[in-house]
Amino acid sequence: MTVHVERLRAALAPLPRVSLGTWPTPLVRLERLGAALGVELWMKRDECSGLAMGGNKARKLEFVLGSARAAGARSVVTAGPVTSNHTMMTAAAARRLGLDCHVVLGGRAPDTPTGNLALTHLFGAHVHVTPMDTADPSRGDLAAAQQLSARLVAETGGCWIPPGATMPSSVPGYASAILELLDQLDGEWPFDEVVVAYGTGSTSAGLYAGLALAGIRATVRAVAVSSRAAMARFDAASPNDLVQAAIDVYRWPIELAASPARCEWIRPEREPGYGLPTGASQDALRRLAREEGYLLDPTYTAKAAAEMFAMARDGRLRRGSRVLFIHTGGLPTTAAATHQESPS
Ligand SMILES: Cc1ncc(COP(=O)(O)O)c(C=O)c1O
Repeated sequence: MTVHVERLRAALAPLPRVSLGTWPTPLVRLERLGAALGVELWMKRDECSGLAMGGNKARKLEFVLGSARAAGARSVVTAGPVTSNHTMMTAAAARRLGLDCHVVLGGRAPDTPTGNLALTHLFGAHVHVTPMDTADPSRGDLAAAQQLSARLVAETGGCWIPPGATMPSSVPGYASAILELLDQLDGEWPFDEVVVAYGTGSTSAGLYAGLALAGIRATVRAVAVSSRAAMARFDAASPNDLVQAAIDVYRWPIELAASPARCEWIRPEREPGYGLPTGASQDALRRLAREEGYLLDPTYTAKAAAEMFAMARDGRLRRGSRVLFIHTGGLPTTAAATHQESPS
């Protein structure tokens, strides 16, 4: 397989970007867990991305805020659930760049904020809470949050960043992670599969775009962490559609259908809803901690890891295949939840 590293580098080089993260993040092998699953397992540690408490948003925001700055933005408006990593990291990134930040948070604010909500306040964001059942949001509540966001954009003149920063200008973020991996691996690509959590889609879309731009034969397995019904209500975008949107905007010289890269959007039927743990996700979180000494988060990475374990068990991940798990962060939620942990 010829890897087109320079085509990928050239696609990203001209795009406006700001510096927010600490790159490269570590790439580590998970020997014991891999042996137990029957695969060669590696993990890209983007929980160490260096912005706030780490996570996938640093890569996306470097490009999203790069274009916002190039367009002269002085403030930003964004939205997410009250536990959102995205809004917390956008608040942090805005402070790094001297921008004002408004966040619209769906849910119910606890009397004493913890985790991401406490950090969002700490970073000085203007916080607007709007009621919502985040695991099963109604269309009315979603529309109310959108109206509030639109009003804030109109009143402040701020640049709108959608939940999860999912817009064409965030897709280069995870395409740049593929470039970083190729540089870490001296231009060779060893992985058959890339497993990642899907929330709003631009992380998996970026990985898919990076693989396609580099002409790499590998499959992204994007594991949804919300219920199917909720995803239909918030019109979740397929990674393919997002990559196509970025290809159109940036005129990248690739055709997805002709690319050896693939992306499978996995929407588990038994998924109870955003932020609601399952027995399998709790097991996955403990397994990574006890077998390898790494922390996952309960909302995203533990669910993606649980599905990775299921795929190894039922053969969707071929025995002996080389699998890269992307650790996308979320550790403030782990910290907020660990008081529930008991010895076992
Ligand atoms: C920790 C973490 N992992 C994964 C995701 C999923 O990323 P995306 O929204 O790009 O699908 C998110 C955000 O949504 C997140 O905060």
